[in-house]
Amino acid sequence: MKRIFSLLMAAAMVTTISCSRHIPSNGNIAIIPQPSKVEVCEGSFNLSPETAVVLHFEDEQLPLATNFLNGVAEKLFGQTLAVVNAEGAAQENVINVHQNPSLPAEGYVLEVTPTAINVTAANAQGVFYAFQSLHQMVAPEALTEKHVGSVGIQAAKIEDAPHFPHRGVLFDVCRHFFTVDEVKTVIDMLAMHKMNVLHWHITEDQGWRIEIKKYPKLTEIGSVRADTQVAGTHRVHGEQYEGKPYGPFFYTQDEIRDVVKYAADRFITVIPEIDMPGHMVAALSSYPHLGCVGEGYKVRELWGISEEVMCIGKESTFEFVEGVLAEVLELFPSEYIHIGGDECPRKAWKECPACQARMKKERLKTEAQLQTYFNHRVEAFLQKHGRKMIGWDEILEGGVSPTTTIMSWRGTKGGIAAAKAGNQVIMTPTTHCYLDYPQGADTTQEPAFGERRPEKPHYLPLTKVYSIDPYDQLTEEEQKFIIGMQGNLWTEHVTTFDHAMYMFLPRTSAIAEASWSHNNKDFERYTTNLNNLVKFYEAYGYNYAKSYWREGK
Ligand code: ACM
Ligand code: ZN
Repeated sequence: MKRIFSLLMAAAMVTTISCSRHIPSNGNIAIIPQPSKVEVCEGSFNLSPETAVVLHFEDEQLPLATNFLNGVAEKLFGQTLAVVNAEGAAQENVINVHQNPSLPAEGYVLEVTPTAINVTAANAQGVFYAFQSLHQMVAPEALTEKHVGSVGIQAAKIEDAPHFPHRGVLFDVCRHFFTVDEVKTVIDMLAMHKMNVLHWHITEDQGWRIEIKKYPKLTEIGSVRADTQVAGTHRVHGEQYEGKPYGPFFYTQDEIRDVVKYAADRFITVIPEIDMPGHMVAALSSYPHLGCVGEGYKVRELWGISEEVMCIGKESTFEFVEGVLAEVLELFPSEYIHIGGDECPRKAWKECPACQARMKKERLKTEAQLQTYFNHRVEAFLQKHGRKMIGWDEILEGGVSPTTTIMSWRGTKGGIAAAKAGNQVIMTPTTHCYLDYPQGADTTQEPAFGERRPEKPHYLPLTKVYSIDPYDQLTEEEQKFIIGMQGNLWTEHVTTFDHAMYMFLPRTSAIAEASWSHNNKDFERYTTNLNNLVKFYEAYGYNYAKSYWREGK
C-alpha cells in the first residue's frame, strides 16, 4: 500500500510540477544532448556537502547513480553526500529520488527548486541520466577549483528521454592498442554524453586483442606484428614502416571482465566485434589451417584490406568460431554480438576446393551466398545461446535472415534496404559517422590521418556529423527499424590516446545529440552549449579538436 501511495505521489508530481516563477527570457540551460523539454525557473539550489540524497524507492542499481553523483561531489567538495532512505529524511537541502514506472525507459524528470532537487525516473538508469544532466548544470569552473564550499544550480524543470535506444561509438583497439584505463576513460566520456553502447572492435588483420583460453596462439602470435605502417603515410605516395615490432598487446579475460563491469556500472553495454570471415589475418597467422591456403600468413603490417580470409569449406573453421564465441559469450553479457562481415574479398573462396565443394553441396550459386551460409551458422549458434547478431552491411549481399541487425556504414543505402526488408538497423555511414576522418578542411592543422584517395582529401566536420538524418527517405513504418546510430573510430593512423580523444571529441557530442534528441536539433543552440561542455572536457582532461572553433564548422 505504501508503495502504491508513493507511486501515485510520484505520478502526481510528474504531471503537476512546473516553475512557480518562470523565466522566459533566460531560456537556456546548457545540456548536451539537449533534453526533450527544459523550463528555466527563478532562483537556484545551493548544492553543498550538507545536501543529502534521499531515496524514495529501492533498486539494486541505484548505487550506480548515486556513486556517479558522489564522484562529482568528491571533485567539488572533497567529500561525498549522505545517501539516506526516505523515512525521517529532511525536506530541505535534499535531492529526492522518486520512481515512476510509467516514464519512458532511460527517461527522467529533473526539478531543481531553491529548497530541493527532485528526480523521478522509471529505473536507476533514468536517475543516472538525471544526475548526468545535473552534473552539466554545475558551473564547470567549480570542478577545477580546489574544493568549493557550495555551488548554485539554476532552478529548472527538465523532462527528458532518448529518441534511439542504441547510442554509441566503435573503438578500434587493434590497429593501435589502448590500455584498460584508456578504454575506461572512453566509457566515462560516453556516460557524460548519455551514450549507452561501446562497440569494441577487438580482432583484426593487424592484431588479435582478446585472450581466448582454448586458442592461446591467438594472443601469443596474433597480438604481435613484426612492423607497422607509419601513421599518416599512404600506399599511393609510398607507405613507410616504423621498423620495429608492435605488441604483444591484448586484454586478458580478467581485464575484459573489468572493462565490461566498469561499463555496466555506467549503464553502457559493451558489444564485442569478432570480425569474420575477413579481417582475420592475425587469427590465420596463429592457426593457419583456418585459411583457404593453409599456410604463409603473417599478422598484417599494412593497413587496408587483405585477400587472406577464413575458409568456409572446412568444418574446422566452424569449430574454431564456436570455440571463440563460447568464451566471448561468457565474457560479454550483451544481447547483441557483432560478427563483422565487412570487406571480405571472395577471391580465395573461388580458388579453394573445400569452399567450392561446400558451395556445390549447399547448392550455393555465388561466393556472397557462401558468406551468407557462414553467417547463418554463426547466427544459429548465437541464437542457441540467447543472443542476437549484428553485421556490417556487406552481409546483405548474399541475403540475411530477418533476425540479423545491420550496421550500415557504406552510406545509408544498405540500412535503408535492410529497414525496408524489416531488419533492425544501426546507422553509421562514413559520410557522417567516421571519426577517423580529419575534422578540419585545413588538414595541415590536423594530426596524422588516413587518406583513401590523397588527391581528393575528405574530412568530416562537426556540422556534417550533426546534420545526420538516420531516417533518410524511410516511411514512418520503416523508421521503426532504425534502432540507433554510432560514431566509429578506426585507429590505423591514431597512435596515442590523446589523439583518439581528439578524434572522438567534440564529434561524439554531435552523435549523442543526434541520437538522443533526434526531433530537437538546433545547431546554433548545440554549439552554444558545446562552449560550456568543452569546459567539462577540460576539467576531466579529455583532449578535443579545436577545428570547429578555428573554421566555424
Ligand atoms: C568498415 O569500415 N570496414 C566497417
Ligand atoms: Zn576455403
